[in-house]
Amino acid sequence: MTARIVPFMPEMIALAVEVLGEGGLVAIPTETVYGLAADAANPAAVARIYEAKGRPRFNPLIAHVSSWEMAEQEAVFSAAARSCAEAFWPGPLTLVLPASRQGQVSDLARAGLDTLAVRWPGHLAARALVQALGRPVVAPSANRSGHVSPTRAEHVAADLGEAIDLIIDGGPCEVGMESTILGFEGDAPILLRPGGIATELIAEKLGRSIRIHSPADAINAPGQIKSHYAPKARLRLNATHPEEGEGYLAFGENHAGGLNLSPTGSLVEAASKLFAMLRALDVRYARIAVAPIPDQGLGEAINDRLKRAAFREIS
Ligand code: TXA
Ligand code: MG
Repeated sequence: MTARIVPFMPEMIALAVEVLGEGGLVAIPTETVYGLAADAANPAAVARIYEAKGRPRFNPLIAHVSSWEMAEQEAVFSAAARSCAEAFWPGPLTLVLPASRQGQVSDLARAGLDTLAVRWPGHLAARALVQALGRPVVAPSANRSGHVSPTRAEHVAADLGEAIDLIIDGGPCEVGMESTILGFEGDAPILLRPGGIATELIAEKLGRSIRIHSPADAINAPGQIKSHYAPKARLRLNATHPEEGEGYLAFGENHAGGLNLSPTGSLVEAASKLFAMLRALDVRYARIAVAPIPDQGLGEAINDRLKRAAFREIS
């Protein structure tokens, strides 16, 4: 059976909470991408997420919270972590912190790690759902493993509709790209995954530089070695124009045709359209050429996604 798609309104949040309480899976809009939500404290429900996504078990999930109290019950905040959270929550920032012993998030959701990825999302539907459930909701991006992240309810329905119980339609996601993930080594923030908040902006707000994760770091960055950004088509990056038979993803002023991520050259607009346009080209072409994208601001995260897609890393 295909999951029911319902609009975001209070009665539907109540229905979603009922579904989650019974161990079901609900796709929810967040400001970044659609998430596939389960009750974080219910390992059977969490297992269904891995099953629905076809995701390797060792890839841990993000716990979504809706208050400081809930966040602090689940994870241990250093002073540095707290100031990051205060600057950007609610919003598209995920922090990897030591998991707290009183936490309710199941081991399975953490994939056995002693750290927990926590995020307080900005989207009202996601917040309302977590608040109504009264405990964290784990939610990976609501796509099958190896597919691009969904930024619209219809993407979720096409990819996972048969495997889940309910989809809340909150319209297109504003940011259109997953959250930025930061970990810490002592007080020093480390970038584990570039995402919806530009790294420079975080560095500026915190008044310190942010190191990019290296394999030598003690902290785990499974997010860096996995990829969900693999269209079926072959990608050719930094292409100023398409070759015969290629679909084209353009950026900025460009007369080479195809789809344009942002004719005005806005990286924010490009980020919000990236997955939807890749999807649209992927259904029509076996090969996609992508224009050069400047590697600053959100361009860093866009290029990260594109490189993973081009090299077809498997998740
Ligand atoms: O914007 C987002 O972050 C979306 C929305 C739904 O909130 N969620 C999302 O989740 O992108 P997911 O599961 O697709 O990506 C989370 C990444 C994974 O690559 C996972 O490996 C990493 O976060 N992660 C989770 N827990 C971790 C931990 N304890 N240490 C290091 N990486 C972790
Ligand atoms: Mg994902």
